[in-house]
Amino acid sequence: MARNKLALLGGEKAVPDGLMKSWPPVDQTDRDLILGSLDRKEYTYGTNYKLLEREFSEWLGISTPSVFCNSGTAALHMAVVACGCGVGDEVIAPAYTWPSSVTCCLHHNVIPVFVDIEWSTMNIDVDRIEAAITPRTKAIIAVHLHGLPVNMDAIGRIAKKHKLLVIEDCCQAHGATFKGQKVGTFGDCAAFSCNHNKLMCAGEGGFFVAANERLLGLGKTLWYFGENRPPSEDGDFHTYGMGWMYRSTELVASFARAQLAKLDGYIATIAENAGRFHELVADCPHLVRPQVPDGMVTNWYNYTVRFDMAALGHAHEPAAFRNKIVDALRAEGVQTGVWQGWPVPKMTVFQARNGYGKGCPWSCQTESRPDYSPASFPVAQKHADCHTGMTFPLRPPNGLELAERVAEAFHKVLGNADKL
Ligand SMILES: Cc1ncc(COP(=O)(O)O)c(C=O)c1O
Repeated sequence: MARNKLALLGGEKAVPDGLMKSWPPVDQTDRDLILGSLDRKEYTYGTNYKLLEREFSEWLGISTPSVFCNSGTAALHMAVVACGCGVGDEVIAPAYTWPSSVTCCLHHNVIPVFVDIEWSTMNIDVDRIEAAITPRTKAIIAVHLHGLPVNMDAIGRIAKKHKLLVIEDCCQAHGATFKGQKVGTFGDCAAFSCNHNKLMCAGEGGFFVAANERLLGLGKTLWYFGENRPPSEDGDFHTYGMGWMYRSTELVASFARAQLAKLDGYIATIAENAGRFHELVADCPHLVRPQVPDGMVTNWYNYTVRFDMAALGHAHEPAAFRNKIVDALRAEGVQTGVWQGWPVPKMTVFQARNGYGKGCPWSCQTESRPDYSPASFPVAQKHADCHTGMTFPLRPPNGLELAERVAEAFHKVLGNADKL
């Protein structure tokens, strides 16, 4: 049957062209809010910007205001500064994440110390954190990767015992919960992203949130030239501390506000689509499905699977064969991809140690030199070599029909893996 023959080899695609719709859904709400800003001639820090910051805090369930900024990376940088991380301080982070979860530290000559990930959750291995703590450790960056929460009980226990601050990287994790509580409300500070891929998309953008007004104020100095008054008030044009320009625009904030109103609906649809896909690929050969431990609710930001490379007979060069599987899935019409092919310590900035100004703190202190040897993070490497993930196919406006076609494509490709 043509439908059984791999599309890569001339068969019919499992997912027909045109079935998948683009992300995010845009409707009259988006148009009204964006055009409303234009009609009011508000281009910066206007009505929608201020409402957005209030509404995001309400959605998250925190009493402090949120700070809307131009990226999740900017929000992470604000968090590092709010937590008082400075030259020579160490910050613990997972060895597998988006680079800016840790490069945010480098702006302040803070030293990232990597901890390998846990195979089952793909998040930082909380059982390895204490071994990485030194007298210089200042904070832990907990990245809720792919929308699955980190075990925040364990993080909280370790942070309390060693008097560390906690930064949550929630860039992928809007609405994910740990024991019923939304991520972003556990740590001292948190960062969310609103880039195009994220569940709350504004094209680009982010939120910095903090557990109290003091931390909020410290992080906020970075947001707007180191000034200490909102842009809508008469400034004294005086820089009170280290500042960048991380504010976003009114039009982006208007888009973000429209999308925030739809966020919970999106999360519910994704849960339904991903749930169906999860069931349908349960018996797919050589496929390792993601796990969600008890007490955690993922937002399925990136439904990530691993392939059993040993069973497929490709344990020696797993990434090369994984890439063939990904190519075959794409030929079937599945929008899938390798999220990160590199554990972060393996990236050039850490191998060359070129992100610390003139070698400082390396040249300033030598007694502690964190381990950036790729061999020290075998779980991260194994994961990097054998996974693929999906974002848009399981999101609205796509529904169960696409989820079912995509599952069919996985069965077809993995059932014919010997032909790749
Ligand atoms: C885990 C994680 N952290 C941080 C970021 C940075 O967010 P942004 O692209 O908004 O700067 C991303 C973005 O992809 C991310 O996935």
